Amino acid sequence: MSFEVGFEHVNKNLVFKVEDYEEKVRKINEFLEYERTNPNNYIGWLHYASHINHDLVESIKKQAKYFRENYDTLVVCGIGGSYLGARAVIEAVNGLMPQDKFKVLYFGQTLDPNYTSQMLAYLKHKNFCVVCISKSGTTTETSIAFRLLKDLLEKKHGKKGAADAIACVTSIGKGALYKMAQKEGYSVFELPVNIGGRYSVITPVGLLPIACAGIDIDRFIAGFVRAEEKFGSPELSQNPAYQYAAEQNLLYNNGYNIELLVTYEPRLQALAEWYKQLYDESNGKDRKGLLVMSSTFTTDLHSLGQFIQDGTKDLFETVLLFDNPKIDVVIPWNDDDSDELNYIANKKLSYVNKKASEGTISAHANDGNVPNIIIEIDTLDEYKFGEFLYFSMRACAMAGYLLNVNPFNQPGVEIYKKNMFKLLGKKGY
Ligand code: PA5
Repeated sequence: MSFEVGFEHVNKNLVFKVEDYEEKVRKINEFLEYERTNPNNYIGWLHYASHINHDLVESIKKQAKYFRENYDTLVVCGIGGSYLGARAVIEAVNGLMPQDKFKVLYFGQTLDPNYTSQMLAYLKHKNFCVVCISKSGTTTETSIAFRLLKDLLEKKHGKKGAADAIACVTSIGKGALYKMAQKEGYSVFELPVNIGGRYSVITPVGLLPIACAGIDIDRFIAGFVRAEEKFGSPELSQNPAYQYAAEQNLLYNNGYNIELLVTYEPRLQALAEWYKQLYDESNGKDRKGLLVMSSTFTTDLHSLGQFIQDGTKDLFETVLLFDNPKIDVVIPWNDDDSDELNYIANKKLSYVNKKASEGTISAHANDGNVPNIIIEIDTLDEYKFGEFLYFSMRACAMAGYLLNVNPFNQPGVEIYKKNMFKLLGKKGY
């Protein structure tokens, strides 16, 4: 099973030299390994998968089984790092229109009254359960949505029935959500203090919703464990995750301020949202950082393609390609060929998508002078996906320290919250 990271440069002066980075990378890796148990450093994710508590995994599976057998819809209530990872995995593995009769919906990530009221109206007629996820237990969007869901459940089933339909993932011992869960008797799963939201997909934050969606979490965890070995070497020449981080750093230092994560499948849009949060919240600070954006091709080639090909030259692309789709479609032959498609009749759609990616990479990298980094993974399943998420987290942490920023805090996010609370009249603001 392969996982290839290729670097295609067009600017010949920008040759990546291992020796320019290997010492820095070694030191940063040593810091990550050494500090991973320090609760103030949020590096608890580094070896979480290989040390996971098996009773915890069993209790997650039991909760998921209970929900799947007794309800028809799950509402995942959370925002940012508290829901994007789970959504990325669920949509990538199950697709955007899954046949599963147990549906998964996402709530608590917006203050939009339209979305909120339509969601509540929809849920009124569903037998739904809730996984509420919040590390702090006090995030406004999630708390409002959860209050509304709790009210609806209590109206439908009474307090005891509502409690059966709710599970929470939060910090143990602190925050409003934890206190409420204790008081009301909700199931609680722990988000460890030394893991931040955007690095938490391997904890119950991701595992519980993923298991509820019917995905094999043992294989997902196994992918993470494999990745810990594969992308754990302190030696740059042997570690593709660190090579990727060094490559990003090299490009950034040479005026490429924007990275576009390119995928060729709409079911990977949630992955792109997760990836953008991971990089932008981790590394955009102290007036530094790559701005990571995303695009779904070939769709966006018909909107953004012109800019990428011919616009300002400050972006590079990271193209994520998964081969061997489980489901494929053959383009049918048509006798009169009025749509002029017979030249690709009997070909699989995956073949056409692949040729589109090859043509695009060549157009952008060779004709457009847009550096392309290609990450090619042979299969899109829970195992490989786990590997890729860990690869990204390890690369992102390295990229942050190469930039000399702390990739595990997010001081900038607090400023809008303070303003909002003041405007809303919250006590103490
Ligand atoms: O990655 C992060 O730290 C953030 O995106 C948080 O996950 C997000 O703000 C939600 O916070 P909380 O889990 O405390 O509700």
